[in-house]
Amino acid sequence: MAKKVTLIPGDGIGPEITSATVDVINASGAKIEWEVHEAGQAAVEKYGEPLPEQVIESLRRNKVGLKGPVTTPIGKGFRSVNVGLRLALGLYANVRPLKNFKHIESRYTGIDMVIIRENTEDLYSGIEHMVGKDAAESIKIITREASERICRFAFELARKEGRQKVTVGHKANILKLSDGLFLECARKVARDYPEIQLEDKIVDALCMNLVQFPERFEVIVLPNLYGDIISDLGAGLIGGLGVAPGANIGEEGALFEPIHGSAPDIAGQNKANPLAMILSGVEMLKYLDLDMEAKRILAAVENVLGQKDKITPDLGGTAGTKEMAQAIIKAMV
Ligand code: NAI
Repeated sequence: MAKKVTLIPGDGIGPEITSATVDVINASGAKIEWEVHEAGQAAVEKYGEPLPEQVIESLRRNKVGLKGPVTTPIGKGFRSVNVGLRLALGLYANVRPLKNFKHIESRYTGIDMVIIRENTEDLYSGIEHMVGKDAAESIKIITREASERICRFAFELARKEGRQKVTVGHKANILKLSDGLFLECARKVARDYPEIQLEDKIVDALCMNLVQFPERFEVIVLPNLYGDIISDLGAGLIGGLGVAPGANIGEEGALFEPIHGSAPDIAGQNKANPLAMILSGVEMLKYLDLDMEAKRILAAVENVLGQKDKITPDLGGTAGTKEMAQAIIKAMV
């Protein structure tokens, strides 16, 4: 029986890379019934709001979603659809696997890590106000419940994948209470996983170490804001935003999406690299236990990445979004 999945194409390059990804996933033999919903600017124009209730209802029903990027207006306009979705569905863990690809150029080799970002609180709680006319305050919320939950998620993932070390990033030397609590929770949870080492690193030193010797990291768990920043740094280590997938996972379901945004500078030009979105789809297939289909796509991707005329310009190639997706489909066995 086909598995129902909520599909949110998003805006900017979203619709192009979503369509490419759906073609690739369908060609892999995975039986998916796509339930398409709009969010972001497209939804504002049609329904007057960026995150219509039917999107959330569809995700609650299907429990699995695949999403393209959505533009978030800076400084004004609607609150981020991404933050809204994560909060509404309790998708508390943002999971970003980073691995070198054979044919994708990077200054580094031997990278194989997973970055896990807490998704529901920290400075993303949206509690901000002006203090008079010339000062602004943003409140950073860190709770024991959410911190223990994300740290446990990180250790469980490490155990499941047979990894030996979890690194927690923080700034507890300065933010003694908030980051101090996050670190305390990591240490408490770590006691239940004696076979896995807990390493703690102040986030600035973590940045330095990540560019010095990224191959030494296995699983990194971080509060929301540091997680956001470090995962883009991580994407840079393996060849850029165009190749980095992501997932938002909660108790009740999961939403898969690339790390990159809606890239308005190249939208509608058939130039966007569909790979991060395709790889997010691969993570989704694995979550759905469709491992064979996931492997089939990954093998085809590896094959195509070696051929300049079949990959997009950001990877040094000459092909368009559609042509790259078609090449991946043709390479499937
Ligand atoms: P961006 O990730 O959209 O673009 C950064 C740079 O990377 C641009 O030069 C872009 O052309 C390039 N790029 C990104 N994805 C690419 C791809 N698949 N293939 C080739 N090149 C690619 O980041 P930016 O410009 O900061 O954000 C644009 C909008 O996206 C903003 O409104 C932002 O809020 C939103 N955004 C949405 C996300 C989501 O929906 N999950 C995540 C990140 C940003």
